[in-house]
Amino acid sequence: MIKEDIGFREAGKFEETRFEKIHNVIFESSQEASILVAREIANLIQRKNELNEPCVLGLATGSSPIKVYEELVRMHKEEGLSFANVVTFNLDEYYPMDKNDMQSYYHFMHEHLFHHVDIPSENINIPDGQVSAEELQQYCIDYEMKIISYGGLDFQLLGIGRTGHIGFNEPGSHVNSGTRSITLDHITRVDAASSFLGIDNVPRKAITMGIGTVRNAKRIVLLGWGISKAGIIKKTIEGKVSSQVPATYLQEHDNTTFVLDTEASSELTRVKTPWLVKSCVWTDELKLKAVAWLSELTKKPFLKLTDKDYNDNGMSSLLTEEGTAYDLNIKMFNKMQQTITGWPGGKPNADDTYRPERSMPEKKRVIIFSPHPDDDVISMGGTFDRLIEQGHEVYVAYQTSGNIAVSNEEALKFAEISKALNPDSKISDGIIEFLQNRTGNEIDSLEVRKLKGLIRRSESFGATRYLGLPDSNVHFLDLPFYETGTVKKNNLSDADVDIMCDIIEGIKPHQIYAAGDLADPHGTHKVCLDSLFEALKRLKHKDFMDDCWVWLYRGAWHEWESYQIDMAVPMSPDQVLKKRHAIFYHQSQKDGVMFQGDDSREFWVRVEDRNRLTAEKYHNLGLADYSAIEAFKRYHF
Ligand code: F6R
Repeated sequence: MIKEDIGFREAGKFEETRFEKIHNVIFESSQEASILVAREIANLIQRKNELNEPCVLGLATGSSPIKVYEELVRMHKEEGLSFANVVTFNLDEYYPMDKNDMQSYYHFMHEHLFHHVDIPSENINIPDGQVSAEELQQYCIDYEMKIISYGGLDFQLLGIGRTGHIGFNEPGSHVNSGTRSITLDHITRVDAASSFLGIDNVPRKAITMGIGTVRNAKRIVLLGWGISKAGIIKKTIEGKVSSQVPATYLQEHDNTTFVLDTEASSELTRVKTPWLVKSCVWTDELKLKAVAWLSELTKKPFLKLTDKDYNDNGMSSLLTEEGTAYDLNIKMFNKMQQTITGWPGGKPNADDTYRPERSMPEKKRVIIFSPHPDDDVISMGGTFDRLIEQGHEVYVAYQTSGNIAVSNEEALKFAEISKALNPDSKISDGIIEFLQNRTGNEIDSLEVRKLKGLIRRSESFGATRYLGLPDSNVHFLDLPFYETGTVKKNNLSDADVDIMCDIIEGIKPHQIYAAGDLADPHGTHKVCLDSLFEALKRLKHKDFMDDCWVWLYRGAWHEWESYQIDMAVPMSPDQVLKKRHAIFYHQSQKDGVMFQGDDSREFWVRVEDRNRLTAEKYHNLGLADYSAIEAFKRYHF
């Protein structure tokens, strides 16, 4: 029974199915969801205050709760929400970890919450990453006892790791475990690597509250945002309880809610294959999604699917609506077929009724927005090349400098060359000294950041010149939100959106290409996309915008599902090679780059695999057999 769900049922999409063993609600955006979670916490604080009791909160760090904390701070500042009666216990801390270190959870909590609210400092409890090894065990017991002395946690906020950890309870954790030290899973360390500027700097151990500690909380809310969490969210909500996915223990807690955004929920059965769990309203997109799924499941191309295949797999209602499998198959086949074009800017003088792009104007003005200086060639190098070759007026706009992804060794190399060419240069001296003497992970000096940004600039010029684009068509926007020198970026501001508006207004494009990545709610790609959406909103009323179509590509990590693709641009084997060479110009991003994520393949390998896979998917659905395909989804604003 869910006792305190603050109107989640009304606000989000809630319709549990027989597959689901944990109450969960899905929201369009993590922003909207976070506001409701913060509201639940605020209500609890106020209720406890009226009862004159302390409100005991278990808190998490990481990217998931950031917006909840932002909203709580706002409520404190604007609505007078007081934290005077709040006692907090944080889930975990790296070990060993100096609390003044930028990567410590102590630092995180103060930066995101405690410095901005009126919580008495003695009410804040965060595991101490500096306790000596000898004292550690007793320290953990005391932490646990302290929670109990307050009558346990009234509310526990959680995120979830891709290993299924909650807190740092990694696979293998026992259901009754208490606060203790733990060895971090490799995947967890990989996920933390970017904040530590490389996996080698990520601690191997942590102190964490146990599964038992968490499960004793009276109320638990777990936040899951972004596509990278979709797989583990499905396993946790629909799978068997298992120590291999510690979050599944929450299935046995009767007052837990998972609050998800659309992307994180996308693997749940009721979202991914709704026809298996309920009767559906068959929109065109859902039809294609279902038929593509059936084709993949039965390993048959569209045109070979039979009435029996549909009936056996929960899709008889679709068949009833469409007549026969024969009609439906042809309809879906044509729909996919019509997405394929070798003319991404539109084919001149052709009937464009069923083509993804308009034939007119024959020569289009095109802006390719690239979040980092290499996303353009990585994600749409083949299409980029075709647009230039087919005579369109192409501009590329690099949204951020990408400076933090250049290693110190790479920067030192260039600083030394610069010094050798100009021995009197004070700037080179300063940079060399900084890079040689740095200890730990301090933020790069302004000059070092500038040098790293310039390295990425000249690499992108290498690639755009190779594709035949004049330098004058290349713009570096250096959006200010990115320029913090750290992995954590600023929020999007008017300054960023103004820059985006200026370039769009200046060029008045017929086509805009942009990275449509929603994978990480706090990642650079997502902020860059938000900056575009905001600019489009502002410019919408301008006349030239009536002729502007927006195409979204996906970055290095994910591809659109086949049913989502509105334009598929095939590449010949030669074009695949040309794209590879364009990517090679980004030398600072080769050979074990800094922000590689959990995939050790280099970007060009990843993207070649991905483009080949998209082509294979098309072929398996019964369409032509291409070497590679770049895929785009149209965004209607
Ligand atoms: C943080 C914690 C972890 C995170 C989890 C998800 O205090 O205990 O369990 O909640 O690793 O991290 P994010 O939110 O960064 O995806």
